Amino acid sequence: MTTIGGYTGAVRKAVVPAAGLGTRFLPATKATPKEMLPVVDKPAIQYVVEEAVAAGLDDVLFITGRSKRPLEDHFDRNFELEEALSRKGDEERLALVTESTDLALIHYVRQGDPLGLGHAVLMAQSHVGNEPFAVLLGDDLIDPRDPVLPRMLAIREEFGGSVICLMEVPRESISLYGCPAVTPTDEADVVIVTDLVEKPDVADAPSTLAVIGRYLLDPAAFAVLARTEPGRGGEIQLTDALRVLATMPSEEGGGVRGVVFSGRRYDTGDRLSYLQASIMLASEREDLGPDLRDWLKEFVAGLQ
Ligand code: UTP
Repeated sequence: MTTIGGYTGAVRKAVVPAAGLGTRFLPATKATPKEMLPVVDKPAIQYVVEEAVAAGLDDVLFITGRSKRPLEDHFDRNFELEEALSRKGDEERLALVTESTDLALIHYVRQGDPLGLGHAVLMAQSHVGNEPFAVLLGDDLIDPRDPVLPRMLAIREEFGGSVICLMEVPRESISLYGCPAVTPTDEADVVIVTDLVEKPDVADAPSTLAVIGRYLLDPAAFAVLARTEPGRGGEIQLTDALRVLATMPSEEGGGVRGVVFSGRRYDTGDRLSYLQASIMLASEREDLGPDLRDWLKEFVAGLQ
């Protein structure tokens, strides 16, 4: 195991921010966090928790906001439903109901005001303590067949510091993302991050790599976030803190590496991508896929 900034140990905890306002999805998100919107038949956030658990991170902290009830209920027991399904002998559906309850050790902390993703992550400090930790955003759905966390964990284990997940995107869409300036390393899928900018203009983007919602952060991130001023959009940006971490010495927990991910990833954060993600995932499912694909072909053929 590597010693980093005085800390020795592996990543055990995952932080899942779910306190954003989800304004792009109104009115669906008026009383429900957008992370609870179903992708096919499972809330987006359950895919994310399953991904964390599959990577060995079964201590999960949700950062919740004003409408946290549906989220808490989803990961809690539902005795009435369990009882009704048991009585009917419907073991298959019963398993679907208890799956999310038994998945992980779940904790909650409230972010009073949605002051930004950086602020949401700072809320995790007392639970996480002086340990490296993962942050997973419910907006980004990584296909379970192409896991990226194991690779990121291996890079953190080897080099310490923080590790972010990057994806090559067309230059014209870079202004939708955080974007790093990078230098290559000996490993084709790993870069050293030297600078970062949140949602740059196309002309100013330092690369065509987009930051996507998986991070492994050194605990040094907390002190940096605590002194990060509101940035773009008046929000405390995680990108701004990562920018500082990228230039800090490794003995102080600094250094940021990027893993360039080339697997399947679906963006459920905006409406069009959300619809595409649902159709793509459903069309690949054994139970729904064949019928959906047949219908889609007919439907598309009828489009003008
Ligand atoms: P987004 O900026 O995509 O989320 O934040 P949002 O504000 O909910 O969405 P829109 O733009 O209004 O539709 C990325 C992630 O960070 C969380 C969100 O829940 C989402 O998972 N977040 C954001 C917080 O937890 N707290 C915040 O203050 C801001």
